[in-house]
Amino acid sequence: MVGTPLDMGKPYRPKDHFFEKAKREGFRARSAFKIEEITRRFSVFKKGGKVLDLGAAPGGFLQVIADAVGPQGRVIGIDLVPIRPLGKPQVTTAALDVLADDFEEKLAELYDGPFDVVVSDLAPKTTGIKTTDEARSLRLAMRALELAKSRGRPGGAFVAKLFMGGDFETFREAVKAAFEDVKIVRPEATRGASMEVYVVGLRRRAQPA
Ligand SMILES: C[S@@+](CC[C@H](N)C(=O)[O-])C[C@H]1O[C@@H](n2cnc3c(N)ncnc32)[C@H](O)[C@@H]1O
Repeated sequence: MVGTPLDMGKPYRPKDHFFEKAKREGFRARSAFKIEEITRRFSVFKKGGKVLDLGAAPGGFLQVIADAVGPQGRVIGIDLVPIRPLGKPQVTTAALDVLADDFEEKLAELYDGPFDVVVSDLAPKTTGIKTTDEARSLRLAMRALELAKSRGRPGGAFVAKLFMGGDFETFREAVKAAFEDVKIVRPEATRGASMEVYVVGLRRRAQPA
């Protein structure tokens, strides 16, 4: 799904409380409140932290994360589509496909240190065919987990969106194998009918399976 500001390309629904709140508070997308809730509950971002944000356009998560890590932090935001500059020196963005073979190489050119947190709000363009959409969402979430294992630091955290479906348990088990603690969150700002949940991995194991 290619993000359009504030409604993220989803079918038209009346503008709700979070849409209006995002507009009022200067956020690019209502999704900002989802990552705000997650960090309020689990304190995943720290001042000076290094964060990889996958599926970052138009930049709602990025706005929240950039403030949470502050000017000493570093945030790399990746999306298929370019992200309008945020005007925050700690944020670097790039238009890249996380599924491309050379993605890790390109990422290393942007930042080659380990990340404290890997965040994924990656979402496929939905087809309306439930099994297809779920499988694509799982593929993206698994890719994000691979990156949390290869580029995240031991002790670090992971946050990934997934469309709840048949393979949800497979993903939860895969996160459990890599992180000491796993939480499942359905943020308040998630729309009523949406099947999305966020899987939060805390304290990455030194030797993730
Ligand atoms: C729900 S939107 C992200 C919203 C964003 N977190 C925010 O707060 O503004 C999901 C994003 O995933 C991106 N995406 C989907 N597949 C991707 C891929 N293979 N590589 C990079 N980005 C991808 C889409 O372009 C879309 O912008």
